[in-house]
Amino acid sequence: MNTNLVYTLEDLLNWPREGYVNLAVIGDPIEHSLSPLMQNAALQQMGEKFANWRYYKFHIKPSELKEAIALFHKKKFRGLNITAPHKVEVLKYLASIQEIAKVMGSVNTLIYMKNGYQGLNTDGIGLEFSIKKELGFSLKGADIILLGAGGASTAVATQCLLADCNKIWVGNRSKERLFDLLSNLSIMGKGKAIGFNFGTIPKDFPKTGIIINTTDVNDKLLLDMNYFSPQMKVFDIIYSPKETALLKKAKELSMECTNGLFMLAAQGAESLYAWTDIKVSPETLWKTLTDFTKNDL
Ligand code: ATR
Repeated sequence: MNTNLVYTLEDLLNWPREGYVNLAVIGDPIEHSLSPLMQNAALQQMGEKFANWRYYKFHIKPSELKEAIALFHKKKFRGLNITAPHKVEVLKYLASIQEIAKVMGSVNTLIYMKNGYQGLNTDGIGLEFSIKKELGFSLKGADIILLGAGGASTAVATQCLLADCNKIWVGNRSKERLFDLLSNLSIMGKGKAIGFNFGTIPKDFPKTGIIINTTDVNDKLLLDMNYFSPQMKVFDIIYSPKETALLKKAKELSMECTNGLFMLAAQGAESLYAWTDIKVSPETLWKTLTDFTKNDL
């Protein structure tokens, strides 16, 4: 199948694909999404039982979200992935929400239930798996420097707290969003989450641990990287471009670092497990992505 085709709400209204089990990712924009590529490749490898499963991408605008979720359910889509900007807004239209996703305040995966969709968040698991696999680094007991206080940051911070990290230092351009995030984390974090300004290195700022970028910034440095020890690990959730300014600088300073491509595969494997009850290794999905992106990102 052509995994590049982008469908719309209108296509969904007339969705004709009987005999198939349907899955989809929805977002705005969505053209760039690699999820159909990796998920359809994985489904193909899962044998006869999944031969009629298909994964599509849909361009759904914010104003269409409510109608779209109701329609996907009516058309019995077995599962959905939710990407920007719908991960928070979609919570309003779900029948139930997994506890961790409630704490994270966002979902990226929906599972069909008779009375509506159940929402989960597999981003945090994907992140932790990727950090372990690619950097050999455990979040347990670690100092975390988190760049950004948006939707992705909340999921990452929650996962770090679940993994029992030592402290999370959160830096963000807008103070308002930073304070919102810190106040959301205050119950679970019990003094573990601390805010800082990008312009100033705080006293007691760790020199080792891990820096995780969750901002959209890929072309400039938000921190003076020379402050840190070469033992500092660096993770950027961005995967396109492959090498952000942060990763380039980390390499120059001999820090171990990685982009978000393996996280994309790992969160996808977890979503696939939620829909099919079959564990496909993240490496399988990652292989499809790396083969495809060798020249393209
Ligand atoms: P996501 O769901 O991907 O996290 P988001 O919720 O829109 O997206 O969050 C984007 C993050 O990138 C925010 O932390 C944002 O900072 P602000 O809260 O100050 O907007 C950050 N960001 C985006 N552009 C930025 C820039 N030019 N400089 C610094 N931070 C930026």
